[in-house]
Order: sequence, then C-alpha cells, then structure tokens
Amino acid sequence: MRVEEFDVLIIGAGLSGLRAGLEFSKKWNIAVISKVYPVRSHSGAAQGGINAALGNLDEGKEDTPKGHAFDTVKGSDYLADQDVVMFMCKEAPKIVVEFESMGAPFSRLKSGLIAQRPFGGAGFPRTCYAGDRTGHALLHTLNEQSVRNGVTFFDEYFLVDLFITEGKIAGLITLDIAKGELVSFRSPYIILATGGFGRIFEYSTNAVINTGDGVGAAFRAGVPMQDVEFVQFHPTTLYGTNILITEGARGEGGYLFNKNGERFMEKTAPKAMELAPRDIVARAIETEVIEGRGFEDAYVHLDLTHLGAEKIKERLPGIREISIYFAGVDPIEKPIPVQPGQHYSMGGIGTKFDGDYGETDLPGLYTIGECSCLSVHGANRLGGNSLLETAVFGRYIGRKLIEKGLPNKPSSSDVQAAEEKAINNIERLFKSWNENAGKKSVEIRNEMGATLNKNVGVYRTDKDLKKSNTTLQSLQKEFLNTQVSTEDRRFNYGLIRTLELRNMIDIAEATAYASLWRKESRGAHFRTDYPSRNDNDYLVHTMIYRGKNGLEIRTKPVKLGIFEVKERKY
Ligand code: FUM
Repeated sequence: MRVEEFDVLIIGAGLSGLRAGLEFSKKWNIAVISKVYPVRSHSGAAQGGINAALGNLDEGKEDTPKGHAFDTVKGSDYLADQDVVMFMCKEAPKIVVEFESMGAPFSRLKSGLIAQRPFGGAGFPRTCYAGDRTGHALLHTLNEQSVRNGVTFFDEYFLVDLFITEGKIAGLITLDIAKGELVSFRSPYIILATGGFGRIFEYSTNAVINTGDGVGAAFRAGVPMQDVEFVQFHPTTLYGTNILITEGARGEGGYLFNKNGERFMEKTAPKAMELAPRDIVARAIETEVIEGRGFEDAYVHLDLTHLGAEKIKERLPGIREISIYFAGVDPIEKPIPVQPGQHYSMGGIGTKFDGDYGETDLPGLYTIGECSCLSVHGANRLGGNSLLETAVFGRYIGRKLIEKGLPNKPSSSDVQAAEEKAINNIERLFKSWNENAGKKSVEIRNEMGATLNKNVGVYRTDKDLKKSNTTLQSLQKEFLNTQVSTEDRRFNYGLIRTLELRNMIDIAEATAYASLWRKESRGAHFRTDYPSRNDNDYLVHTMIYRGKNGLEIRTKPVKLGIFEVKERKY
C-alpha cells in the first residue's frame, strides 16, 4: 500500500481548503486532497457575493463591522456565537482587499471602488460581487495562487476514513479513484474543508459532490455533529431543476409575485420586502403555494423585467443564461418561475473557537467552511456570509497552526498499527458490499432524499418528523446489506456513490433526529406545531453523538454578550 506523509493535510479544494493551503505553502510540507479537481469544487457555484463592511457611505451613513455583525446575529435568530461572528466581520474588509490584490475581478463602481449590492437581512449594501459568478471568480483566483505557490494537490482521491493513535488524529485512508487503490496519508494535523451536504435532500442547489464526506468521517471517529437541524432553503431556485437564482437578483431590485399579481412579501416583511432573510422569504413563498396563490400549485414569479436589459446583461448574465437554457424564459422579457430549495447547511462538525480555533473534540482534527459548525451562522445564514467564512477561517487556521508549531510525532509503530486496522476495516466493508444482495445504494439514496424533502422541509411537524426518523432508521439497516456489483475498483462510481451514501445517511438521520428534538421555531427550523421561538429551553446548540442505542443529543450554550437577544422583525 502507498503511504504518504505530510505536516498538514487539507481535505477539500474549495475556497476554505485553498485559502488554508495557501497560508501553509512554502512554510510547511502540506497537501490538499480532493475528490474532484479544485476548480470543480462547489464554491465555484456561489453567485451573489461576499460581504464586507468596506466603510462605504450609503445615504450619508458609513457601514461598520459591528453593523455587519449585528445583522448576522439577528439573521441567525440569535443562535450564532457572537464572538465568532464579530471576529469574522472584523476580518471581512481585509479578506476582500486581499482577494482584490490577488487579482479577483470584482465588479466596480464608476469611481473604481469595489461595487456592493444589497442582500437579504443586511442593513447596508455590503455584498461585493463579480457579476453573478462571484464564487467562480474567487475559486479561480485562489487556485491560480495555489499553483503559483507550489501547493501539492492529490486530485480525485476520496476520503474514506480517519485513523487515530493515542487519542489524537494520525492520518486518513483515501481511495485513489482512477487507480482504485487505497492510499494512506499520515499527518498530525488534518483540516476538513469538505463543504456542505445538501445532496442528502432530493432537491438542492448543491453540486452532486456535496455529500458530507468529512462530516461522515469525523462522526464515525466520534466527533459530534452540531446544529444540523438548521437547513437553509434558498427562496429562489429555478422551478423544476432547483438551480440557484441568486439573491443578487432581488438585491438588484427584483420583485416576487404570486399568481394574483400581489407582492406578497408585504405581508411578512413590510420594510425589507424581498430582502428579508432567506428563512423568512422561503416560508412566505411556501405559504403562498400551500394557500393556493402559487402558479401550478408549485412556484411564484421572480420579476426582473423592470430592471431593463442593460442592467440584467451587466449584473445578472449567468441568471439570464440559466433561465433561458433551463426554463425557456428570458428574464428581460418574462418573470422567472422560482421555488425554495435546499441550499446550505448551517450545522456541521462541532468545532471550537476558543483558544485552539477550529479544533474538534479529536485533537489534531480541524474543520473550516460549510462542513464545520463554529457556529457563525446560527439558525439561518445571511447570503454573502458563506464565501466570507471560507476565506476568513481558511486564512486564520493556517496562521494559528503555524504559530502553534508542529506537534511531537507519535511512534511510527503505533501509526502503522492504526493505519493497518483502518485498512482492514475498509477491505472488509468493500468485500461485504461486493457479496451483499440488498438494495443498490442509489435506491436507498432516493428514499432518503425523498423523506427529507417531504418531511424535513421548510415547514416541519412532529408527525412528519417521526415518519422520517422511522424511515431513516430502517434505511440505515438496509444500508448494512447494500451491494456494489462491480469488484473492479478503478473509476468505480458505484463504489464511490456507496461511500458517499455511508456519510449522507448518518447526516440525514442526525438532521431528522435533531429536528424532532427541537420543539420550537428558530431561523430556518420551523415547526408548525411549535411556531414560536423558545429561548428558555432551546437557546442552545445541539450536539449529536452516536451512542450504544442510537443517536443521542447533548447541548452546548450559545455564546452571547455582544448583542441583546430580541424578537426578529424586518
Ligand atoms: O443567492 C446567492 O447568490 C447565494 C449566495 C450565498 O449563498 O451566500
């Protein structure tokens, strides 16, 4: 078996992984491992922008990091840890300027300053953008810098399992997708930057690669998942395909209409209207449809026609292209049919911010970006804060670990023993999948996605959540008997999909379980049977563990103290 050894390993080559890698490059012996080529990472799909209080003036008022932090905490329905939010918002202007100096092609004002557009839940137009392809622009910028700085990449290597010695992380086992071989990577520091896991749902804006591989591997290693009941449904995904239609379209002035021609946001958010936070707009759309005011009982209209051809072509060219190709609608002439769709996971791997930033309960294992839960987004993320989080914490973790220095190496015989044990477990697993006669993983995956969509959606009830919990527990059992019919491991996508499902099914089960446990409505988690927020009992983070008898929940306090907890009004 091939064995590689590095000072630090980063898993995932999206914005978080690349930014962290850049920080270590030329200083430590590092590698970035990814199941796809870096520029295929899902960060490239982000459209609308990256938030930063750049100190610009709007109607005579100046934007500040504190204002940005307040909007983020309020948007989070007060579940975000306020110290982490404040840190991120203070770093934001430096990060945008850094991107600019690396060559990121931000859209500009006539004066030459970086342009900023209004986004949901923000008291200020603070979202910097590159047309409507901001993630693509930033991902290519960081990839170019990584290549320039000699970062070592292992592309198309799938993370299978982590291994531990003396209670600390010691390495991980991957599957080289092309060669079909297991490869061990040893390192005392592992940073998981594997992104979101929206594909546990049937419909999502997420790329098909977003299957929670880092979250699943950490969970199997005993690290809890945190706050996974908080799932963001983006209000405007294209009806039918659920491709993202950026919030930037509303930021540029787009209106939402029901089939009676009403701008229905007036009822829920009379001041913010279409630019209320995503959880509120998604619920408003869902309500219009449920109450019979949607088109074809399924969607509403996002109208951009009044913006004019010039603005649409300049600021929203990607949205125009998507609408024409996938819905046959040119937004210059007609409204776009939209419906809410899974978009982002506020929860993830439980991760600490105090002292040793970004470390999990497993010493040496760190997480950044969407796979991690710090928690910087609480119960509902504001648009434009996701790209920001990746770069802020990617850079920060690199600096922190370099400051901390490399730990003493564990004995190589211990590492070898842990590595062999992990390999043997994986070989046994693969053999059993080849021998089993149960359902194919795709069948289990379809059932999992369907139950989440139907029962763990925008509106949730005790009855539906119980149904999904029962279904997911029985799918877990069926998964033990799943089959992979082809033994040849080279480019074996049946095997890869099964490995992905192994991660997804744990996350799906935890999501449904935590949603049933949380008997209140907060941010993106809305229980029609408990429609109010209950700060007395539930202003806490959920930490989910696998116990002997199934899943268990413990709680962790929310870090407050900067902004007073209040009712949210927009
Ligand atoms: O709507 C959007 O462009 C998405 C942005 C985000 O998720 O931050």
